[in-house]
Amino acid sequence: MVIKDIGGKPMTAIVVFALCIEYIKDQVSDEVKGAIHGLDDDDIHWVVTVPAIWNEQARQFMIEASAKAGIDKDNLTLALEPECAAMFCRYLAIYKSSKDHEMDLKAFDENSRFMVVDLGGGTIDITLSEVLPSGQLKEIYNATGGPWGGNYINEQIIETLKHVIGWKGMRKIRSDEYDEYLELLRNVEQNKRGVEHDSEFSVIIPNELRGKIIVPESHNQNVRVEKEKYITFSASLMRKIFSSSVDSMIKHVEDLLQKEETCMVSTILLVGGYAASDMVQHGFREKFQKNYKIIIPATPDMVVLKGAVITGHRVEAIVGRMAKYHYGLGLSTSAVSGRIISIGEDEEKSFFSLIIKGQEIKVGDVVTQYEIVLKGNSRWANLEMYTTNENIPRKIINNEHFTKIGSIHVKLPQYKKESNLILTISYDETEFKVVATDKRTGRCFVGTCRFLEKQI
Ligand SMILES: Nc1ncnc2c1ncn2[C@@H]1O[C@H](COP(=O)(O)OP(=O)(O)OP(=O)(O)O)[C@@H](O)[C@H]1O
Ligand SMILES: [Mg+2]
Repeated sequence: MVIKDIGGKPMTAIVVFALCIEYIKDQVSDEVKGAIHGLDDDDIHWVVTVPAIWNEQARQFMIEASAKAGIDKDNLTLALEPECAAMFCRYLAIYKSSKDHEMDLKAFDENSRFMVVDLGGGTIDITLSEVLPSGQLKEIYNATGGPWGGNYINEQIIETLKHVIGWKGMRKIRSDEYDEYLELLRNVEQNKRGVEHDSEFSVIIPNELRGKIIVPESHNQNVRVEKEKYITFSASLMRKIFSSSVDSMIKHVEDLLQKEETCMVSTILLVGGYAASDMVQHGFREKFQKNYKIIIPATPDMVVLKGAVITGHRVEAIVGRMAKYHYGLGLSTSAVSGRIISIGEDEEKSFFSLIIKGQEIKVGDVVTQYEIVLKGNSRWANLEMYTTNENIPRKIINNEHFTKIGSIHVKLPQYKKESNLILTISYDETEFKVVATDKRTGRCFVGTCRFLEKQI
């Protein structure tokens, strides 16, 4: 993927991400090394967090970017943000902001089920977890979410400003007075944070435009110019702007809570910067407070970060995830279930499912094992792994619905027409490792299914 900088210059996304990670890594390393004498790079374990709705391909991307930034794979854990948030809340005292007093963590007792809603700038990321007797967490419903994050509010405000100021005026400061434009964006961000249910919102008018703004009739009910210096939005306009984001997320959460799997959920945990918004808190309380315990930590924007540190210190804090896709082998159509005939390159392939979408998979553990029989005349056989996102996978593999994610090259014995193989599939954070063991010789063939194979 290629992204453009502010001046339109293109750069590959992986380089941009790597540079950002490297910058943060260097800053933190310097800080920590200054504080702890004799600390080596190898003594530091890094945790990079990603939203739970990202797929394996995106997670793999972050591992590659971290490697480029100089973080060795052995010193890296990739953690899912809502899981980190849940970890934080399980381990540290939090504030129940409705009463504003400190409380214990009984919401996270054994077997309790809870929902984490991570409200960020870009996305709202929702996961549902259960606390196991061991204290570990298990995902009980596939992560979902949507693009109703805090930045959406800024965009709506800017959009309204464009109508009030006029497109021409806005374009002019954007192209000629970029500093003032950035100042305006900062001002919008800062003042938006203070908006409460009944409060108005003001921004300072850029110098260039002072005295030139006439509020159009379409907006003069809700927008006014004050002392030629401020543009002020009415409380009802602000409620309307926020409700376009808040209503969508509340509807989404409400739908999720109707599902069979979520009936035992008792607690909703709001984290992420946007959870600090009074409008968001108000919306959630109004809708869910009657039936659910709502927890909003005191500094919701720091929760994921702190939880990531705890996750980094715990070995395998998260035990179970759910498979996001179906995973399986591509086999020649003549194959019968469990009995496999070797595969020619151009033949039509059928899908032999190994892992079912929604199936629970354990991190760092064997997911599944199969015994198959390989027949063939050639000395090598290629076992190809595919994924598909369809709820019920179709039988024949095609390019539109399937993605090839890896293959294992298996050497067949020269003198035998058949080999019995045991396929063992294990899952390690972001990669599926497939080991084919020849039952007779004990010889192992390893294949790793990498989700970026095509892109890099
Ligand atoms: N008091 C507040 N009121 C409203 N919005 C707020 C408040 N404080 C922070 N935000 C918003 O929260 C968002 C940032 O949250 P956070 O730091 O959790 O995002 P992020 O993790 O960087 O984003 P993402 O999770 O989408 O990648 C910004 O949109 C910011 O405007
Ligand atoms: Mg976030």
